[in-house]
Amino acid sequence: MNQNLVDSYGRPINSLRISLTQRCNFNCFFCHQEGEHNPGEELTVDEIEASVSIAAELGITKVKLTGGEPLLRDDVVEVVRRISPHVEEVSMTTNASLLEEKACSLKEAGLRRVNVSFHTLNPEGFKEITGCSDEDLVRRGVEAALGCGLHPVKLNMVVMKGVNADEIPEMIRFSRETGTVLQLIEFQELENGVEYYEKYHYDLKPVEAELERKAVRVVERELHRRRVYHLVDGAQVEVVRPMHNSRFCAYCTRLRLTSDGRLKPCLMRDDNLVPFAELVRAGEPRERLVEAFREAVARREPYWRD
Ligand code: 5AD
Ligand code: SF4
Repeated sequence: MNQNLVDSYGRPINSLRISLTQRCNFNCFFCHQEGEHNPGEELTVDEIEASVSIAAELGITKVKLTGGEPLLRDDVVEVVRRISPHVEEVSMTTNASLLEEKACSLKEAGLRRVNVSFHTLNPEGFKEITGCSDEDLVRRGVEAALGCGLHPVKLNMVVMKGVNADEIPEMIRFSRETGTVLQLIEFQELENGVEYYEKYHYDLKPVEAELERKAVRVVERELHRRRVYHLVDGAQVEVVRPMHNSRFCAYCTRLRLTSDGRLKPCLMRDDNLVPFAELVRAGEPRERLVEAFREAVARREPYWRD
């Protein structure tokens, strides 16, 4: 019997995105908090390893650690060390504020690569977005990641109207100079609603069309069929356009685990989570844990559809 996870829309599930904590030392006003609300107790290292070992048994080969800010967990290096033997790739999305001190130990523990939330080169803008007054902190974190051999380093730029949309060319230049990959991410709607969305949402479709014209090579990734545009000067720009994009959802191959241990079939939905950690805590047999994964996959539905 094929053990691997495929949902009822034919989407294979090969990656698990685990939120290690909902705590964060930044305070980005647009933060979607990975679609989590009022989280309970954080998962322990043992519980995280249990989830990854079952995920791996079911064919999941990639784990992305995220937050809040995952590096705020004191045991983050231990988490990486314990889960990396189970899967082909462990990566992390981080605000980089603690990468200077942790990048090399993370690499040594088995972390392959990082995505750094990096929205602006403007010091004032940086303070306004993150609430952090050390404007250089994130750049130093990026340098540390590169220096320790985490590769590739991707810069996640959430593009927002009236905030940083005019910085795209500058960010492309910066990413080329630093040898990083720039991910232009479309602003995603939050609970606080349509008004906010209309204020900040910036359509990346025309930006993507221009990149398409300029690119010397276009590589399509499996996840979400996202495209990476290679420009003539060596820059690499990936465009993440989830909103109202049925193609994005049709090729979504990831499942999420919330910081308090619930399997989450979709970032955008809060009504279909499956308890996981509580089964581990209750000492339920492995079959029940596998069952929870299968149930979460069975609940997956494309959010945006034609
Ligand atoms: N829309 C798009 N991206 C967001 N992120 C946080 N909030 C939003 C939002 N509303 C980004 C973070 C991080 C990644 C996990 O998602 O900056 O890089
Ligand atoms: Fe949210 Fe990330 Fe900003 Fe922290 S750094 S507030 S988790 S977007």
